[in-house]
Amino acid sequence: VSLATYNTFRFDYSAEYFAIAETLDSLRDLLAWAKLNHKTVTMIGGGSNLLISDHVLGLVIINKLSGINVREHSGNLVNLTVAAGENWHQVVQFAVENGWYGIENLALIPGTAGAAPVQNIGAYGVEIKDVLSRVQVINKDTGDVYWINGRDCGFAYRDSHFKGQWKDVLLITSIELSLKKQADFQLGYGGLSDRMDGIPDLQSVFNTVCRVRNEKLPDPAVLANSGSFFKNPIISQKQHAELKLRFPDLVSFPFEEGFKLAAGWLIDRAGWKGAHFQGVGVYEKQALVLVNYSENDASALLELEDKIKQSVYEKYGVSLEREPVQLPVVTEIVE
Ligand code: EPU
Repeated sequence: VSLATYNTFRFDYSAEYFAIAETLDSLRDLLAWAKLNHKTVTMIGGGSNLLISDHVLGLVIINKLSGINVREHSGNLVNLTVAAGENWHQVVQFAVENGWYGIENLALIPGTAGAAPVQNIGAYGVEIKDVLSRVQVINKDTGDVYWINGRDCGFAYRDSHFKGQWKDVLLITSIELSLKKQADFQLGYGGLSDRMDGIPDLQSVFNTVCRVRNEKLPDPAVLANSGSFFKNPIISQKQHAELKLRFPDLVSFPFEEGFKLAAGWLIDRAGWKGAHFQGVGVYEKQALVLVNYSENDASALLELEDKIKQSVYEKYGVSLEREPVQLPVVTEIVE
């Protein structure tokens, strides 16, 4: 089966075995089948943070688990339990329509609810970890289903244990969000606060986030891409001070012990914005996003990635790290 329609870069690699899981029971049966037949299991949600760079051996399962459950508490709290296959943006819309606060800044992020914790999706000063109370998982080997508290998931900037030590063992089946019934906006992020006018309410914040994203980010349904292709690099105070001397208009934000740099700015100022290379390129309105115009495989994109990394390193001495998850999983050789 071709995976072209299951990844937003639309690379045309195939899966050895392929299935769609619509219920927890069918997912359990699929895992049992894979175990019996010694097949590795790979789960895909919306495929919007994926870089598929080869055919995938074993069983690929598309997560279509559905359903949203609401528990309103007497105080300020509302819990939403959302099955992993639900579309994330529709969950945001549902919360906004009901007057529940907490995820409005995360509007229009492509992909499924179940994929959101993997890279700890974030935008405009909010990350899903801020509102994620629990994650329900299934153990690939045993079929056991259980909940893990959000605070135990190793969440960090665009990172979690689901991307790391749990990658080969656990699949996400559901998430539980803790939302609020009273306003509690995060409007500090420059790109957002600049664009708000009047007294903010839930709908206007949601609308503004949608507008800003639509202006800067390509819709994967129109132009194939996986959002930010690189993480914003984190550097030491010392390196930051040196860079700021050489590049006074460097865009950076204090982060933990050091500074976070806007990778989009680094790539842009290294001359890459809007560049074309074979059938892929750097998006003309946001240099952090790589786009696929016409390639069926990932080779040109991987080459472009290397060129950008090299050029940014030569210019600033900063190493860029890739943001989307790669499939099939590449085992790094440590020498
Ligand atoms: N910039 C440039 N040139 C560019 C792109 C950006 O100069 O081509 C500058 C902007 O002017 C701005 C700064 O870089 O001063 C930051 O840009 P922006 O606000 O667009 O955000 P970002 O840091 O590039 C991050 C996330 C996005 C998220 C936005 C808004 C990462 C890797 N990316 O991008 O997330 O939507 O902030 O919060 O952290 C994603 O992860 O896929 C994603 C799109």
